[in-house]
Amino acid sequence: MFSGRAWRVVNFGEPRRAVELQELTWAEPSPGQVLIRVRTAGAGYPDSMMVAGQFPLLGQPPFGLGEEAAGEVVAVPPGSRFAVGDQVTGITAFLEGWGGYADYVYLREGSMMRIPSRMTDEQAGGFPIGFRTAYAGLVERAPVEAGQTLLVLGAAGSSGATALQLGKALGATVIAVAGSPEKLEFCARYGADHGVNYRTDDLTARISQLTDGRGVNLIYDPVGGATAATAMKSLARNGRIAMIGVSSGAPAPLDSMDMLLRNVSAIGVLAQPNDTPAVEATVWRHLAGMIEQGAISTPVGRVYGFDEVPQMIADQTAPGAGKVVLRVAAA
Ligand SMILES: NC(=O)c1ccc[n+]([C@@H]2O[C@H](COP(=O)([O-])OP(=O)(O)OC[C@H]3O[C@@H](n4cnc5c(N)ncnc54)[C@H](OP(=O)(O)O)[C@@H]3O)[C@@H](O)[C@H]2O)c1
Repeated sequence: MFSGRAWRVVNFGEPRRAVELQELTWAEPSPGQVLIRVRTAGAGYPDSMMVAGQFPLLGQPPFGLGEEAAGEVVAVPPGSRFAVGDQVTGITAFLEGWGGYADYVYLREGSMMRIPSRMTDEQAGGFPIGFRTAYAGLVERAPVEAGQTLLVLGAAGSSGATALQLGKALGATVIAVAGSPEKLEFCARYGADHGVNYRTDDLTARISQLTDGRGVNLIYDPVGGATAATAMKSLARNGRIAMIGVSSGAPAPLDSMDMLLRNVSAIGVLAQPNDTPAVEATVWRHLAGMIEQGAISTPVGRVYGFDEVPQMIADQTAPGAGKVVLRVAAA
């Protein structure tokens, strides 16, 4: 049995009143999970949705927060492919109420990996969700081909900045869309070929200019709402929009008659582990290989301290550039 602290949602509402630091105990992990002592954990817009009661995959409080975490394995079930002392990062058992904003958390054994040598703790804690989702979008559900043009919305955010890197690693030309010059500079540092500020530029005219009137082959959309609706006007024939999330507060509005007349498709993407564990293990090996080659890296943004969790969640409705990471414990 392990004892420690955990930030948990106790009511839906404003983060400072909705989350509470509690003392918890963690039993030995069940088959399919390992228990880690957390050093860092990744944050993102889903935290805001969870605290507000708008996250579609979770029920009523109380539940833990933190979908991904990195640290040291402290307990494994019999037959695990991990061992006590391994340094790992992975997706937490958040759908069962456990979260990474805690001293300990269970990771899903199928959705984790040993931390590659070139990763910092912050990069490790903020890696799993963004890149597993980008992989689901750009490899599994709406594959982007080398030479195609990929438009990434919310491109400086957790989801967007991972997709733009994976898109580049897969050989696409990437147009990053974000809401400030600073965010577009951030996207350029992570490899975006072009940047468009949707707040000040005419998105449609600028994309037409950048693609010589051809439009884009794929939109990666963690934002939805009006920005997604405008971006869809720039889809080339046979183009696709990969629907990832709703950080604008609304999903991408779809006009089925327009989609019919222009031969375009919308594809839902939920980053779920493959049903076959061996196939899922290949995904994580592929991602780890790209890290080792320097092709992708966690786009770390602001790092918060453990006592700042309520403020960190409140800040997710107006995030700065990059992946927000929580430092839970020193190395
Ligand atoms: N499908 C999946 O499996 C999966 C996995 C992970 C996340 N998601 C979803 O993806 C969405 C984005 O999550 P994330 O963690 O990537 O978010 P994030 O890092 O906070 O980035 C979201 C971006 O959206 C833009 N934005 C536009 N309107 C916004 C608003 N009202 N509030 C906040 N941001 C706004 C911001 O960029 P600008 O300032 O440039 O506008 C921001 O950088 C969420 O809905 C999340 O649930 C889905």
